[in-house]
Amino acid sequence: MTVDLQAAVHAESVVDVRRLSPALGAEVIALDISRPVSDAVIEALRATLDQHGVLLFRGQRLNAEAHITFSRRFGVLQEVAQKQYQLEGQPLIYVIGNVEENGRPIGDPSVGRLWHSDQSFLPHPAIGSLLYGVQCPPEGAATLFANMYAAYDALPPQMRAHIERLHAVHSFSEYYEALRERDPTQPELTDTRRALYPDVIHPLVRRNPRTGRKALYVNPGYATGIREMPGATGARLLRDLCDHATREEFVYAHAWRNGDVLFWDNLAVNHKGTPFDTGRFVRRMHRTTVAGNAAIYAASLLG
Ligand SMILES: [Fe+2]
Repeated sequence: MTVDLQAAVHAESVVDVRRLSPALGAEVIALDISRPVSDAVIEALRATLDQHGVLLFRGQRLNAEAHITFSRRFGVLQEVAQKQYQLEGQPLIYVIGNVEENGRPIGDPSVGRLWHSDQSFLPHPAIGSLLYGVQCPPEGAATLFANMYAAYDALPPQMRAHIERLHAVHSFSEYYEALRERDPTQPELTDTRRALYPDVIHPLVRRNPRTGRKALYVNPGYATGIREMPGATGARLLRDLCDHATREEFVYAHAWRNGDVLFWDNLAVNHKGTPFDTGRFVRRMHRTTVAGNAAIYAASLLG
């Protein structure tokens, strides 16, 4: 871990950061990400993200171009699956919330009520997400994050060795059906979309490709079972691991302010949203998504 420490020390000499909570997260102080950012600062931000799992930039004012330009410094961006919630003319921006324009909902009102890691239903899930709080309700609508490195580290050694050999099934269609049960206004899953996202398999433990640090990679949103342990036994282990990962000491709850940008590493943390009074408040969030790829994914496997 010497390399990690050196990277962290270097990072903190280039950008000014302070910890968000004992569990995870770092606030990057006084960096306007709408302006050009040097390569050295980007590298420091990467190292800080590797160390803390979530970065917070407060007081930002980002138009779509600036949001995309900054996000692109960390990889190739991708459109999200829900095309109806792309910002008009900006397909790389995913609008989240109960916001309406001209009487029409333009944001995804229902995302993220279960703990999940973005796109774990894809063969090469998104590596990062950058969520910008444009309009944030004054109460509720927090985002919770769980530190999956710490969750892995806290498992007994025999359990760590056991689960390193196992794989979970991640299913977009089961997630979507569960979502529709809670919110029947969601459109039915079309055969086209079902075919686009067949179930995938991921190991229960992956590692950060840059630091080698191991993380527990399970989530109750998309993971439906364990390949090597079919039926109730696998489901029980999965549930136990997911419960373990959300123990209080691993969790940070972010109370949003307008202008916050949160950048999280989908391998390092799971996250979920909390409800708010949709009758009283409007929520508008913009997200960009940094795509994974085969090489990054391969580097995250224990081998
Ligand atoms: Fe999410």
